[in-house]
Amino acid sequence: MDELAFRAALEGLPIGRTALLETIGSTNDLAAEWAGQVAPDFSLILADEQTKGRGRAGRRWLTPRGSALAFSLLLDPAALPQAEPGLVTGLGAVAAAEALETLFGLQPEIKWPNDVLLGGRKVCGVLAEAHWAGAELQAIILGIGMNVAPSSVPPPEALALPATCVEAETGQPCDRPMLLRGILESLLRWRPRLGQPAFVAAWEERLAYRGQAVALVSGAEELHGRLLGLAPDGQLRLEDDARAVRQVPAGEIRLRPKLTGK
Ligand code: BTN
Repeated sequence: MDELAFRAALEGLPIGRTALLETIGSTNDLAAEWAGQVAPDFSLILADEQTKGRGRAGRRWLTPRGSALAFSLLLDPAALPQAEPGLVTGLGAVAAAEALETLFGLQPEIKWPNDVLLGGRKVCGVLAEAHWAGAELQAIILGIGMNVAPSSVPPPEALALPATCVEAETGQPCDRPMLLRGILESLLRWRPRLGQPAFVAAWEERLAYRGQAVALVSGAEELHGRLLGLAPDGQLRLEDDARAVRQVPAGEIRLRPKLTGK
């Protein structure tokens, strides 16, 4: 991304320290280093390419040069109403979804806890990680990766879920700095309301597979049931096959829709 366009996209926003990098291993890793140096709240690292991009559960996240948005924000726990990585994951997903709606009129859905989908295909992933110094929570690092150009979409054999990109969905070239600004503005709007009913409602109303049969996979365990919605703390509410309502924290869980009849 062009330095001038990057600066213009951040104009007037309360951003801490910033870095715009051509290439890096993972922006979340550099943000963790910054957290150790006590960088200010809402510090931002954006990279045009990641060579060791990470997703949830140790999965790889591909960011070929210039094709995507890949950035990490360092959030000071003192600036969060609730310093909960699960809620911060939701914050990232809601902000990414809202920017796609506002800027392009798209209708994204959130596959709990961290994927943003367009037409059932993944366009964006969120990785929130807590950074501790001993017993003290120093920062929550919010990493967001969005596929923008077709070259950012990984080959199907590398994917658990089909993927798409912004340009394929809009049919137009996408201005990445403008999209970055849209996501940051939405994050700043929702952050003070993290965990409040309005925030959970904004997350819940975009949830994919609501009312549908789903399977939650955690290691070798699978929980099957109907997806009801979210609890006030962002946990998933599920009616299991015995009609009991279960609440599931994000943890290392994967959600997938169940095919009817299976
Ligand atoms: C997922 O879908 O599992 C989450 C993907 C998160 C990717 C972003 S890109 C910026 C930041 N740096 C990383 O290494 N990962 C996150």
